[in-house]
Amino acid sequence: MSLYAAFRSIGAYVPEKILTNADLETMVDTSDEWIIKRTGIKERRIAEEEVTSDMGAKAAQLAIDRAGLTNDQIDLVVCATVTPDYFNMPSTATVISDKLNIRNVQAFDISAACSGFVYGLSVARAFIESGMKKNVLIIGAEKFSSIVDWTDRGTCILFGDGAGAAVISATEDKSEAIIDVHASADGAYTDMLITPAPGSVHPMNQANLDAGLQYVQMKGNETFKLAVKTLTKDVKEILEKNNINAADIPHFIPHQANYRIIKAVGDALGMREDQVVLTIHKYGNTSAASIPMAINDLYEAGGLKYGELMLFDTFGGGLTWASAVLPFAGKDV
Ligand code: ACO
Repeated sequence: MSLYAAFRSIGAYVPEKILTNADLETMVDTSDEWIIKRTGIKERRIAEEEVTSDMGAKAAQLAIDRAGLTNDQIDLVVCATVTPDYFNMPSTATVISDKLNIRNVQAFDISAACSGFVYGLSVARAFIESGMKKNVLIIGAEKFSSIVDWTDRGTCILFGDGAGAAVISATEDKSEAIIDVHASADGAYTDMLITPAPGSVHPMNQANLDAGLQYVQMKGNETFKLAVKTLTKDVKEILEKNNINAADIPHFIPHQANYRIIKAVGDALGMREDQVVLTIHKYGNTSAASIPMAINDLYEAGGLKYGELMLFDTFGGGLTWASAVLPFAGKDV
C-alpha cells in the first residue's frame, strides 16, 4: 500500500487596513502610475495590532475546518515566514500551535522568503509519503510591513501583510496525490535580497539600527531578471518531467511579486489569461503568504474544484525558488 500526500484544504487571512498607491505618494517620491506600470500593484494590506502568528493562526483555523478535521488531528505544524514573531525563538509555528491549542506535536519554521510555502509543501509531502505524519498544517504568514523601510521607494511600494494556510493529508488514492515539487536555492546570490540585522553578522546594536540594517534591502532589477530566467526554466522542467502540457493546467498560481514577472513566465509557457491567478493588484507581494492567499481567493470565488490541477512557481531571498504541480483535493466551496 502506497501513501500519497493530498492538498486537502486552503484558508487565508487578510488584514483590514488598505494602503493604496495614493497613500504611498504622500510618503515617498513615487506615483500611482509608476507603481502600476512597473509592478501591477494598486494596493496592499497592512497589519496594525496583529502580528504574524495572529494572521497565521486565523488562516490555519480556516484550513483545518475546511479539511473537516479537528485541531488535535494535526500532527505537524510548519510555518514559512521571514517576518517571525521573534528573531529567532520561539518559532512562529510554535506560537501558532499554542493559539490553536495544538499540543505536543512537532512545529518549526521555514526560512525561504517568498519560496517558503512551496518549500513547506515539499516538507509536508516527504513527511506524509514516508508514513511519519498524517495531517500536516503548512502556513505562509508575513508581517512584511515590519521590516520595510518606509522611506525607501525601491522596496516599500512592493510588500504587504497577510497569511495563508493549507492542510496536506495522507491518502491512498493516487489521483489525489501531489504530483511533483521542485525546491532549489543558490547561496551565491545572498546579497540580492537581504535583511542584514539582527543576526550574528550584524547583531542588534545602536550602530546597526542607525544604519537601517534591520530593513529589507533588494537589488530589484537584478532580482527581476534572475526571477524571469530561473522560473521559466524551472516551470518548463517540472511540466516536461511529468508529461503535462501547460495548456492542460487550469490554474497557474504564481508567486505575486511583480505582474511583469508573472506575465513573462506565463507567456513563455503559452498560458492564456484565464489560466493565470492574479492577486498582486490588491495584496502586493506578501512573500510566503502570497501563493496560499491567491489559492484562497480562487477557492472562495468558486473557481477551484476537486481534482483540478494547480501549478505554483515562486522566487525569493536566498536566492530560493520552487515550483509544484498538484491537484486540489479539497471539498468544493
Ligand atoms: N517610484 C518611482 N520611481 C522609482 C521607484 C518608485 N517606487 N522605485 C525605483 N524607481 C526608479 C529608480 O530610482 C530608477 O530611476 P533611475 O533610472 O533614475 O535610476 C528607475 O525607477 C528604474 O528602477 P529599476 O529598479 O531599474 O526599476 P525596475 O523596472 O527593475 O522595477 C522593481 C523595480 C519593481 C523592484 C522590480 O525590479 C522588481 O519587481 N524586482 C523583483 C522583485 C522580486 O521578484 N523579488 C523576489 C521576491 S521578494 C522576497 O523574496 C521577499
